[in-house]
Amino acid sequence: MSEIEVPKGLNGVVVDETAVATTDDSGNLLYRGYRAVELAERVDAADVAYLIVNDRLPSDSERKEFAHKLKEHSGMDGKVSEVMKLLKEKDVMRNLRSIVSLYPYESKDDSDLLLEIAARFPRIISDTFRISRGQEPLEDVDASFSERLYYLFTGKKDAEKARYLNKLLILYMEHEFNASTFALRVTASTLADPVSSIVSALATLKGPLHGGANAEILDFFLGFKDEEEARNYVDEKVASKEKIMGFGHRVYKTRDPRAQFVKEEIRKMDKEAHIFKIAEAIENRMWEKKKVPANLDFYAAIYMHMLGIDQNLYTPLFASSRVYGWIAHYNEQLEGNKIIRPSSRYVGKTGREL
Ligand code: COA
Repeated sequence: MSEIEVPKGLNGVVVDETAVATTDDSGNLLYRGYRAVELAERVDAADVAYLIVNDRLPSDSERKEFAHKLKEHSGMDGKVSEVMKLLKEKDVMRNLRSIVSLYPYESKDDSDLLLEIAARFPRIISDTFRISRGQEPLEDVDASFSERLYYLFTGKKDAEKARYLNKLLILYMEHEFNASTFALRVTASTLADPVSSIVSALATLKGPLHGGANAEILDFFLGFKDEEEARNYVDEKVASKEKIMGFGHRVYKTRDPRAQFVKEEIRKMDKEAHIFKIAEAIENRMWEKKKVPANLDFYAAIYMHMLGIDQNLYTPLFASSRVYGWIAHYNEQLEGNKIIRPSSRYVGKTGREL
């Protein structure tokens, strides 16, 4: 078999087919053929999760059944809460990954099992965040997908903020062969169990070049007293060839449609906000100096900050949405499975004698 050399990082390499999501010729992200930003504007996040997993928007009865299934599995096993207390770990992504890996997987239907796990994400995240900070877990609420998530992540009931959160959850839900989804597909392709596949995805999402980016943005951001200081920061980073979190993307080289959508939502919330002005100054300077656009994580971090969500929950929030994309890809991978196992070009030593 002749081997093919591909660019580092598989940049620009098509490794398989997918019917879940793509970016069209105009740069729009499509979920199952629908524009993601239009779904974010008009549809409930639970319906979009259903769409991504099932390839169609739900009927009324399917919507009820889906909500029932998520609710049925949304609770927390008492033993798991004990494990959380023992972990004494403040990093929510590490806890989420550890807790999910303990999940029993004797259920017969993988797809149902994956939904059970997805349904538990908000509760695991909320409880582990609170327990590790010496707080009592919150009582659950009977509310919509986004309202419940907003409550579990902030301890507050706020229908308007939940409506804003609904949009972000949709934009985070799916993005074809991104790194965590690809890791999940590699694991699934070995016919490992669904829990292991989700754990691979979680472990990969955590990295700062992927989902972890949104948790690092406010660190450099909140200290700037004015736009000039922010622009100087960009100039210094560019001069020293360092990356700025929240910029650049493998797919979007001029404009990330999700970032621009979230930016407009922030403008609606409060266009005079100091943080918004700083953000625009950084975005404009980055474009001027490097021609690198702001990605979703850049504006999502500001958005979540304005919604009153703790920074430690930004990447976990991403995970509790992206998990529905992972389910769709797990199913797709197994439908036409071939183990993902590339080759390498050896550059090490040869012929060494003992
Ligand atoms: N800050 C400054 N410059 C950046 C940059 C950033 N965040 N992201 C990309 N660039 C520059 C690179 O330095 C490179 O410039 P050069 O050609 O002058 O060397 C060029 O843009 C291409 O970047 P590259 O890293 O090769 O792109 P990639 O497709 O391999 O990587 C990311 C994509 C997302 C990993 C990368 O943009 C990045 O590290 N971004 C920061 C982390 C982040 O926000 N991740 C969330 C992604 S949604």
